[in-house]
Order: sequence, then C-alpha cells, then structure tokens
Amino acid sequence: SAAEKDGYEYFMLKEIEEQPRAVADTLRGRFTVGGEITLDEVRMSDQDFRDVDKVFIVACGTSYHAGMVAKYAIEHWVRLPCEVELASEFRYRDPVLDRSTLVIVISQSGETMDTLMALRHAKNQKARILAITNTVGSTIPRESDAVLYTRAGIEVAVASTKAFLTQLVACYLVGLHLASVRGIKYADEVAAVLTELATVPDMIQKVLGEMEPVRLLARHMENADRALFIGRHVGFPIALEGALKLKELAYMHAEGFAAGELKHGPISLIDDGTPVVVVVPSPRGRSLLHDKVVSNIQEVKARGATVIAIAEEGDVVVPPHVDHTVFLPRVSTLLAPLLTAVPMQVFACELAAAKGHDIDQPRNLAKSVTVE
Ligand code: G6P
Repeated sequence: SAAEKDGYEYFMLKEIEEQPRAVADTLRGRFTVGGEITLDEVRMSDQDFRDVDKVFIVACGTSYHAGMVAKYAIEHWVRLPCEVELASEFRYRDPVLDRSTLVIVISQSGETMDTLMALRHAKNQKARILAITNTVGSTIPRESDAVLYTRAGIEVAVASTKAFLTQLVACYLVGLHLASVRGIKYADEVAAVLTELATVPDMIQKVLGEMEPVRLLARHMENADRALFIGRHVGFPIALEGALKLKELAYMHAEGFAAGELKHGPISLIDDGTPVVVVVPSPRGRSLLHDKVVSNIQEVKARGATVIAIAEEGDVVVPPHVDHTVFLPRVSTLLAPLLTAVPMQVFACELAAAKGHDIDQPRNLAKSVTVE
C-alpha cells in the first residue's frame, strides 16, 4: 500500500533512500576496536577460523556481485586464496573442498535454491559455512556454521539495493575479522578501516542528495536500447551490477565488462552514440589503475561512445575525456563500491520509470528464486 511506501512512488526508491540507515545498522555494535566482529550465530571457534586455508564465496544475482567485491577485500586483507562462484555452477564443477575451506554463502532471502544446494554440497565435503543473509530464521543460516545478518530490513522491490550495500558491509566485516583472528592485520590497521566504514553512511546520504543529474541522464536515455558498463578492480563487479540493474528494470541489453577485456571483443560493439558507463577508480594511490581506465575511456570515445563516468570528486583528469561525470566522495579503493553502486541503482530505476515499467515487480523476475 501507499502507506508502506512512506510516500515514495515505488519500494525501490524507498529502499535506495534507506541505504545510509541500513549500512549504519549493519555496522552498529558489531565490532571491537581490535576488529573482532560479533557474528550472530557461531558454531565454530577462532581456531576454526585460523585453520582456514581457502575461501569460496557462493551466491546468485546481485549477491554474487557482493561476493566478487569481497574477493578483492579478502585476498588483500587476509592473504588467503578466495574464489567466487555462481551457486548454480558451484556443485557441478566438483570444487576442491575440505574441512579447512571456508565457504561464505551470500543470500538476501536465505532461501535461494541454487545457493542452498551449493551450501549442502560444500557441507557434505566437510567445508565450514558462513552465511551472510538478511532474513532471520531462513533456511540458509539455519544450515550454516556461522551467520552474520545484514540489517537492511525487509526488501520488497525485486531488484536488490539496500540488501546489496549491507552485504558489502558484512563482507568487509568478515574480511577484517579473518584478518585479525589470523593475525595478518594489526589492530590499528583494522581499526582504521572500521573508522572509515563508520563514516560511509553519511557519504551515501551525500551521494543520494546529489542524484538529480543522474536522473536527468537516465531520462535522456529513455529511448536507448543498450548500454555497456566497464570497470577495473572493485569497479568491475559494480559495472556488472549496473548492467544487471538495467536488465532487470529497463529490459535493456546491458552488459558489464572488465575494462581490460574491451580490446578482446566488446570494443567492436561500440559505434556512434553507444552509451558506456565507466566506473573510474580513485586517482589517488593506485593511480596506475586510474591511468588504465582513462586509456579505456579514450579507446571507447575514439569509436564514438557517449561516456558517463562515475569518478571521485577532485578527479580533474577524467571530465575532459567524457560526456558526463558523476562525482562521488573520496573513500578508500576497497570501500568504493558502497558509493559507486548508488548512481547505478538510481540510473536504472529512473530509466525504467521513464519507460513506464513496473519498478518493484519487473516482468519475469521473482524476489526469491526457490527452484533450481
Ligand atoms: C533473485 C532476485 C535478485 C537476487 C537474487 C539472489 O534473482 O531478483 O535481486 O540478487 O535472486 O537472491 P538472494 O536472496 O539469494 O540474495
């Protein structure tokens, strides 16, 4: 009903706006200064966490994209090999699992059948299972060894938004926890990331307040029938998520690529006016990555693309090369997806609304897919 939507036209809009609160709730009371996180349900010891020698992350859809981001954080912070796998592929691939494998299962609903079957397969191979889920009492956390609940609140819109951001937060917490329990990171390094995470809700709020140009861009693209999204490092999963959102909501052929793969095929898709959304990494620190993305922008521009860049405020290199720049607050590279995902959501939602589509219930899709 209209009342449940708090005056918003769609649940998706309401859920996008709730993100600062959802992220703050997911962080609240969860960690000590030393970076020890408090899991909600733990049937494994610190020693079990220390014995882990390999991490798998298994999920579907948007949750899989959260897992892809988590891989960058876990490998960097924890120095453990980490693979991300689509749940629907995982158990058919005969993955190598044993009791020192940690399988992180990410599911908003906690009921996705592919994800549940992957969990059961991993459990049969004696792997430890840690669930990140938004739904207390659902099947996936019940069958897991440890659980960290995202506190997004009930998500109604089929296209996931606030659950995604809280999944990212939960993944960062798990990564930091593993790093501190295993003695890889010093307490002060973990504390620095946690301190920055605590400032992210305000940053998201700021981003939300500056989305009018993104809505305008989306309305201008009402008649576009395709769009490409590119990114590198953690910008790559966000490019995939941006494309997924457009597919889900605007029924457009949208595809995300690792920017470095452009030259191996996707660049042939580009001709005059092809919209390309680019997730630009921070120009600070990892400037090598930034340079590479600027080259990719020049490559697609030279073939006629219309480029929308999502860049960090203060980036003076990118704007002259592109058609539109959306600026986001400065944040460290690994945490950037918490911000870069937001314009993707707003863009898809507005474009779909301009096309007159059902935002909360897109055709052919279900909120929770309980068949394999
Ligand atoms: C469906 C939903 C997506 C979701 C995916 C995985 O496809 O429409 O929004 O990302 O399932 O769902 P889960 O509940 O396992 O995160």
